[in-house]
Amino acid sequence: MAVSRVPLIAGNWKMNLDHLQAIATVQKLAWTLKDANHDFDAKGSEVAVFPPFTDLRSVQTLVSADKLDVVYGAQDVSEHDSGAYTGEISGAFLKALECTYVIIGHSERRTLHGETDEQLARKVAAAIRHGLVPVLCVGETAEDLEQHGPSAVPVAQLRAALEGLSGSPDIVVAYEPVWAIGSGQAATPEQAEQVAAKLRETLAELFGQETADATRILYGGSVKASNIASLMREPNVDGALVGGASLDVAEFASIARFQKHVGT
Ligand code: PGA
Repeated sequence: MAVSRVPLIAGNWKMNLDHLQAIATVQKLAWTLKDANHDFDAKGSEVAVFPPFTDLRSVQTLVSADKLDVVYGAQDVSEHDSGAYTGEISGAFLKALECTYVIIGHSERRTLHGETDEQLARKVAAAIRHGLVPVLCVGETAEDLEQHGPSAVPVAQLRAALEGLSGSPDIVVAYEPVWAIGSGQAATPEQAEQVAAKLRETLAELFGQETADATRILYGGSVKASNIASLMREPNVDGALVGGASLDVAEFASIARFQKHVGT
């Protein structure tokens, strides 16, 4: 990856770990990273966790009291700011809890909750409105891959979610092939790079080369300590969105320290 982009290693806990488990997990993660002399300079990576909504206040309290080198975000956000939307969470509330990021359009939201590209575009706009950095997930199913090739669907999803934005939006894109999520079968580094490069080209078309060059593109889908280094060697892969392996602190910390295994 290009030197100017700080790698982002993001752990999506999905519906796992309550607020007490979150405290123990984040504490252990911060200690493990510290022991390993992890830092946030250009050589290090930024480490983020995405716990369930009900954990966020506890995580905020811990991270701010102990000044931990871990940032955090939510797994979803409402497109609305306030009002009669039972069960929804406003970006304003996430900002008040000092969330840095919010995941938008994870394939589980798209498929299990029927979230459409149009709705996701409104969620991206809501995140930006509240000063949160959207981590926009895009990715093709196995069927899409067979019918349209690897990049057509992710590129179309990216366009649909971002087309309404102007200027140089501060966003993160996560390429997550649906067939790789939770399957144990990650994309090869070449496959991840091919799509990430197309996504960057599309960002350049939408917002100019400078913004495209500054935007981090993550790969997600069965990332583990054993495959992160080879993925991170690709020039357009700037980090990872990690599901299952983020629940195991030792494994996740090892992923965050991928630089230690690059070149090995
Ligand atoms: P996985 O999930 O790492 O368990 O494949 C990735 C994700 O869903 O973000």
